Amino acid sequence: MSQRDSGYERKERDLYETPEWVTMALAPHLPTTDCVVWEPAAGGGKMVRALSKIGFDVAASDIETGRDFLAQPAPKPFRAVITNPPYELATEFIQRALGLVPCNGFVAMLLRTDFDHAKTRANLFANSPVFSKKVVLTKRIKWFEDSKGQPSFNHAWFIWNFEHEGAPTLAYAP
Ligand SMILES: C[S@@+](CC[C@H](N)C(=O)[O-])C[C@H]1O[C@@H](n2cnc3c(N)ncnc32)[C@H](O)[C@@H]1O
Repeated sequence: MSQRDSGYERKERDLYETPEWVTMALAPHLPTTDCVVWEPAAGGGKMVRALSKIGFDVAASDIETGRDFLAQPAPKPFRAVITNPPYELATEFIQRALGLVPCNGFVAMLLRTDFDHAKTRANLFANSPVFSKKVVLTKRIKWFEDSKGQPSFNHAWFIWNFEHEGAPTLAYAP
């Protein structure tokens, strides 16, 4: 995801690594942590390591290591897709993930907190029967340990669950 973190150039291919606490904040909101999850934009593997710690069996890939999520198949069968997608391709990543998970599957994407506001994305949120939960991170993500500036954006986890019924719910992660 593209970030404006004062004093730093935008990284090539949006290689922003998600701090562990951000992935840990997602865990209580998932339908299960006992399954195979595909992290398809794994970068340096920070989120992969956090997902493994949570208990998932993680299949990791990245375009940099030869697997384009938008064009190529998964490394192995999986039930869920969880990632921090490159900002410019976030919509495509969500659509692709929703099209790939099995009928009991789920998808979680870390996005800017207002990503669901756009009318053009209503099919992914307000009008999606499988959009199940938004988990607002009440603390801003500091993308670089040595950053001198304050982070500029708020983020949330967005969860789509194919076994979900009813309206989506809202939660706040400390
Ligand atoms: C924001 S980083 C996320 C890194 C990791 N998920 C994390 O949170 O620590 C985005 C990653 O997406 C990868 N990427 C960009 N386009 C991709 C594509 N089409 N298919 C797979 N990976 C892609 C980049 O190489 C980069 O590693």
